[in-house]
Amino acid sequence: MSINITKDDLIYPYFIQEGVNKKSAIKSFPGVYRFSIDRLLGDIEETRQLGVRKILLFGIPLSKYPDARSAYALDNIVARAVKKIKQEFRDIVVMTDVCLCAYTTHGHCRVLKKDAKGPDNKKTLEALSKIALSHAASGADWVAPSAMAKNQVSAIRKTLDKNGFKDTKIMGYSAKFASNFYGPFRNAASSAPRSGDRRPYQLDFRDGKQALKKIVDDIKEGADIVMVKPALSYLDVIKEARSKFNHSLAAYNVSGEYAFVKYGARQGLWDEKKMVFEILASIKRAGADLIITYHAKDVAKWLKEL
Ligand code: PBG
Repeated sequence: MSINITKDDLIYPYFIQEGVNKKSAIKSFPGVYRFSIDRLLGDIEETRQLGVRKILLFGIPLSKYPDARSAYALDNIVARAVKKIKQEFRDIVVMTDVCLCAYTTHGHCRVLKKDAKGPDNKKTLEALSKIALSHAASGADWVAPSAMAKNQVSAIRKTLDKNGFKDTKIMGYSAKFASNFYGPFRNAASSAPRSGDRRPYQLDFRDGKQALKKIVDDIKEGADIVMVKPALSYLDVIKEARSKFNHSLAAYNVSGEYAFVKYGARQGLWDEKKMVFEILASIKRAGADLIITYHAKDVAKWLKEL
């Protein structure tokens, strides 16, 4: 059976910054911007008109703290954005990234112990749960924990249920590899670790078995969608997850994968549109039901022209 990409397959990520009337370009991330909330609404209207109705939000706070407090302050940037989006649009499915790395001074996805030697798991889960709750309370349809903290899905599920948000769904970044493909994203979110790297908590790319275990864990903990990230170097993991589990499966076509295509097209190495359709078809063919991709808006435009 041949594969066709449709607008319903796609989730479009957005980066949100403080301020008014801002749409800022990002280094090494062509075609992707950081929007202030007012400008974000305008762009979502465009995306919506093109027929892409699912978006994933990332917040960039003004100030970072060791305990990531600006991520879960009641008026945190993502919560404010979600409220506005939900006031303005009825037909946009809002998903929010739930992580600490853009909000911590050290740039790690977790709260560290006082001596900075290793993570404080309890505080990390508390912080992630508070973030998820603030997004849900603002109207997010989905929260998407991406910190790779053990039991993050069950901790968030419990908090949401206890507070009356049983209908808010969870997309787990279940199999998230310690990848070299996240470069442009880290520029966008200023979220590169200040020291060390994420290998202690993200997955080893040499090990596919571990990834499947993580997916099982997330399903057991109550994730409504499980995810493999990145997509292209991990099509085998997507395929295996598809064949083993009867569960909604997303793949994240990450920033580095996107930048490859863009820069190669600029160099005249290939036709951007053809390349994007080939890549997205491969991800869907491997078994992803949903694809998070920075190409989503372009794809929707191209589909219109077909
Ligand atoms: C945050 C997060 C990352 C991405 C999504 N959520 C970066 C990271 O783990 O450093 C990467 C997405 C992309 O590269 O497009 N934990």
